[in-house]
Amino acid sequence: MTLATIIRGARVVTPAGVTTCDIGIEDGKITALAARLEGAGEVIDASGLIAMPGGIDSHVHISQPSGPGIEMADDFGSATAAAVCGGNTTVLPFCLPEEGQTLRAAVAAYHDKARGNCRCDVSFHLIVKQTDPVTLGQDLPALINAGHTSFKVFMTYQGLALSDREILDVMAVAREQGALVMVHAENEDAIEFLRDKAERDGNTGPQFHARTRPVPVEREATHRAISLAEIADVPLTIVHVSNGEALAEIRRGRQRGARVFAETCPQYITLTADDLDRAGFEGAKYVCSPPPRTTDDWGAIWAGITGGDFELFSSDHCPFRFADPAGKDAPGARNTFRNIPNGIPGVETRLPILFSEGVIKGHISLQRFAAITATNHARLYGLTTKGAIMVGMDADIVLWDPELKRPIRQKDLHHGADYTPWEGFEITGWPVRTILRGQTVMQDGALVGTPRGGHIARGAPEVTL
Ligand code: URP
Ligand code: ZN
Ligand code: ZN
Repeated sequence: MTLATIIRGARVVTPAGVTTCDIGIEDGKITALAARLEGAGEVIDASGLIAMPGGIDSHVHISQPSGPGIEMADDFGSATAAAVCGGNTTVLPFCLPEEGQTLRAAVAAYHDKARGNCRCDVSFHLIVKQTDPVTLGQDLPALINAGHTSFKVFMTYQGLALSDREILDVMAVAREQGALVMVHAENEDAIEFLRDKAERDGNTGPQFHARTRPVPVEREATHRAISLAEIADVPLTIVHVSNGEALAEIRRGRQRGARVFAETCPQYITLTADDLDRAGFEGAKYVCSPPPRTTDDWGAIWAGITGGDFELFSSDHCPFRFADPAGKDAPGARNTFRNIPNGIPGVETRLPILFSEGVIKGHISLQRFAAITATNHARLYGLTTKGAIMVGMDADIVLWDPELKRPIRQKDLHHGADYTPWEGFEITGWPVRTILRGQTVMQDGALVGTPRGGHIARGAPEVTL
């Protein structure tokens, strides 16, 4: 047998178990897994390393319209550079129409932005913010057919939040077309009530972002989203779950038979609302929604990660520069938290944080790590050739050095943001080589080659994980 590449002697994490073996690669696919393979153009010595499926980050925001004068810190080039340096081989960003743009036109424009610029593979979720007959009756079905088989609806953010009736109408399309609905569950009216009061009382610093989005705001919306999905008879994903009470709603829904998938993110096991209270305007670096909570909530989220409640661990990478009027320092942002763009960067640090905090500290196994960072993302969102080290799959593989110790430092990162919320956070275990469809795209923290990622049209969501 002639192979293009052999990865020699890694501990290989497969859905069937963890075993030390060689991985054979030909034409960008995994073609052999065996104790010893011979005869390849390239042999990568991976002894002492762990071979994992390339990370799939199914929740990132790239070049997303963010309001007048506000600009996201990453385009497809920088976001995917950061992604591969953080051990990812596929990311799923959200396509949001500009004001007055149709969903179909937005997707075409998004493809143009991505084309030729991606260092890993990408596939777009849609954001449904309008429910007119053309969007629901024509654009959405056509786009689902073209492989955009998942979409997000918002219960918060002015201009994005849908009413319950509108969410049900969107869910009905998902049911008819076999797509998966993702829900951002926070109650916009409740937030607005609390925000108005905070501003009247002169409570306008970044920390009041967290205080005006308390746990009941998320808990109530989580319960309502699941109830709406039960009424529409569809599965759904609750994205970026931040606390134990929202997770309890998910557990209760599942006990009733609701088909609920759950996602959480690094910020909900490592940051707290106190970070938004940092001196000066520093707290703005941590403004995201839902906000980071308490260390008790870290415990509840960890229990969900170790106990199997969370299928997905994503970054919710949503980068804005800090020292920039087009970013966190937007006009009026120092006058009221309302004007601070929501979101934090994290696509490059998601996997090292979970590896270090989860695997190295003994909370989760290598297999659970692979499941919640890659395999489940592929299955749930219809990436049929990705997410597992198995013969026949794309050779999307990441080699990890489990002993490499280094703190997270902004100066080492590749994203377009000018800060990381995890500056100085100690990590044990880093990805040292990222392989996309058989080609090395990152080695020892440096980018290799030119962008060779492409857009992946997805199949039907696998909703029986
Ligand atoms: O603050 C956040 N998470 N911004 C990104 C948009 C979203 O809601 O996911
Ligand atoms: Zn969201
Ligand atoms: Zn998000």
